[in-house]
Amino acid sequence: MSAIKRAAVVGLGGQAHKDHLPGLAECRLADLVAVCDVDSGQVGATAETWQVPGYTDLPEMLDAVRPNFVIAAVPHHAGREIVEACAGAGVHVMKEKPFATDPHEAAELAALCEKTGIELMVTVQRRFHPVYAAALQLLEQIGSPYLVEGRYTFHCPDPAAGWRGRAKLAGGGCLADMGYHLIDLLIWYLGLPDRVLADTSAAAAPGAFYDAEDTALVHLAYDSGLYGSLLVSRSAGPKSERLTVTGPYGAVVVERGAVRRLAPDGQVVDSLVREPAWPCAAATQIDHFCHVLDGTAPNPSGPAAHLPHTAFLAAAYASQSTTRPADPKEFLA
Ligand SMILES: NC(=O)c1ccc[n+]([C@@H]2O[C@H](COP(=O)([O-])OP(=O)(O)OC[C@H]3O[C@@H](n4cnc5c(N)ncnc54)[C@H](O)[C@@H]3O)[C@@H](O)[C@H]2O)c1
Repeated sequence: MSAIKRAAVVGLGGQAHKDHLPGLAECRLADLVAVCDVDSGQVGATAETWQVPGYTDLPEMLDAVRPNFVIAAVPHHAGREIVEACAGAGVHVMKEKPFATDPHEAAELAALCEKTGIELMVTVQRRFHPVYAAALQLLEQIGSPYLVEGRYTFHCPDPAAGWRGRAKLAGGGCLADMGYHLIDLLIWYLGLPDRVLADTSAAAAPGAFYDAEDTALVHLAYDSGLYGSLLVSRSAGPKSERLTVTGPYGAVVVERGAVRRLAPDGQVVDSLVREPAWPCAAATQIDHFCHVLDGTAPNPSGPAAHLPHTAFLAAAYASQSTTRPADPKEFLA
């Protein structure tokens, strides 16, 4: 049995408090040993709550605490410096999605991880959810898919707020942020499309200044004949998350915590429901990463596996600005 791993959380905002700090308390194979944020107020309160040392300077924390790995949950523009600091110190990283903000950054970070020998695992928690894994098996029963429809929406009251309202800081808008999960499912189930054509808008809050899209619609097509679309919005409710893949012998519909297989006429043939839908995704991911570090489990979302995600996003944004289809493969570094 390997020793319990020492973990530090960097970036103490919404996602750290919702998932990673409770996940570390619940997981079996790692302990929280320090927290870090550039905001000293966040550091003080979080260090007090979790009874660990807090830092506002990452290199200082890495030097003083020497964690086995860092969980990085920072705004997208800050991801690079965190990975670089950790790689320099030989500390592994569990990185909140996205892996990188553009293909160039993705290629450089992938090369850095390779050179320094650190493991980096991107947190795409659906990969650790049995319903999403079951969907992959059910897809084998519908024949060659010809249609894919994805939808991921919710209503955030202020799409202009904070770093998420600025495309440069967020590396895009809703497509790069929440849409990353839908893109991950698409690539996992069906591979990287051969063409994408995207429209995006930042029009849901008239008068507010923001340039990171609140809504995106991406048409996509594969040379196999499969085509479809992804609709992502952080302004248009109601909250919904669904991916439907249709083939000659039926369809697979995967939603949060449930997957259904439909006959061609839409009747439900079988279904699988997980209750509760998300019991402990963060703890499961952390324990899995500890197994990756021990060499007893593969890394399902390492740097190389996420170059296609960055390429998809770059192609979608290029297509949006040129109003022409783009081939994501041309954006693979
Ligand atoms: N997997 C998911 O479902 C999911 C859900 C929400 C957010 N996220 C991801 O988590 C990450 C953080 O999102 P969030 O909603 O928590 O953002 P947030 O704005 O709530 O928190 C970010 C925190 O990082 C800190 N920070 C900024 N720059 C820093 C730096 N250089 N070093 C250390 N700390 C720094 C900020 O002070 C802030 O406390 C993003 O990558 C986001 O996409 C993932």
